[in-house]
Amino acid sequence: MIDVALCPSEIRRLESTDLSLTTAVVFDVLRATSTMITGLEHGVEQFFPVETVAAARARRAQDPSLLLAGERGGLPLEGFKLGNSPAEFKGISGKSVVLTTTNGTVALQRVRRAKRIYVGALLNLDALARALESEEPSDLLLVCAGTGEEFALEDAIAAGGLVERLSQNALSDAALLATTLYREASSDVTSYLRGSKNGRSLANIGKAKDIEECARVAVSQTVGVMRGAAVVKLT
Ligand code: MLT
Repeated sequence: MIDVALCPSEIRRLESTDLSLTTAVVFDVLRATSTMITGLEHGVEQFFPVETVAAARARRAQDPSLLLAGERGGLPLEGFKLGNSPAEFKGISGKSVVLTTTNGTVALQRVRRAKRIYVGALLNLDALARALESEEPSDLLLVCAGTGEEFALEDAIAAGGLVERLSQNALSDAALLATTLYREASSDVTSYLRGSKNGRSLANIGKAKDIEECARVAVSQTVGVMRGAAVVKLT
């Protein structure tokens, strides 16, 4: 069965759900998971996704070789080396990064007890589908990280794009909804992302370029997977 968690209130409930037989894919298209896929593709060794700014700083205090990255309100954090724009992660090959973002890294933490956890984006839909087809999970949960407390259109589009690429046909109503949305949006994904709440917010803070970057569909062969506390490239 493929199910989709469409908003943060559902994701919160996952904390107390038995996910021991579930494979989860977390989507935060604008921008946390797109950033991780871009970084891993360009040689970032690993990302440590953490919920809070304090947790990020504490992690770095233990290991000063780590780079601090993240955002609040879309903007880089004081004293952090990097923000959350995918392009920033193209030039730091070989580094390990602690990342904290408003929704994406939180969603990854909420499903940390799942059997397996992948990082999803529009960027890597084909590669992700191939990885899942070879794993053949019996229970697949696509987690749409959302924006603040709300549903985010771009995450549901990406979840639908993944469902569309999988042969499993036992779909929850939420998975059917996401697929229908993807079919509607797939001819002009960039426009949908520009029109979304997150897209408009990013444009307002001068980060419209990030939208174009994250709206590219299936351009990357990189799959991110959680290994312990880190997101690494699936090899
Ligand atoms: C998030 O995790 O909420 C997003 O990545 C936020 C952002 O890109 O600014």
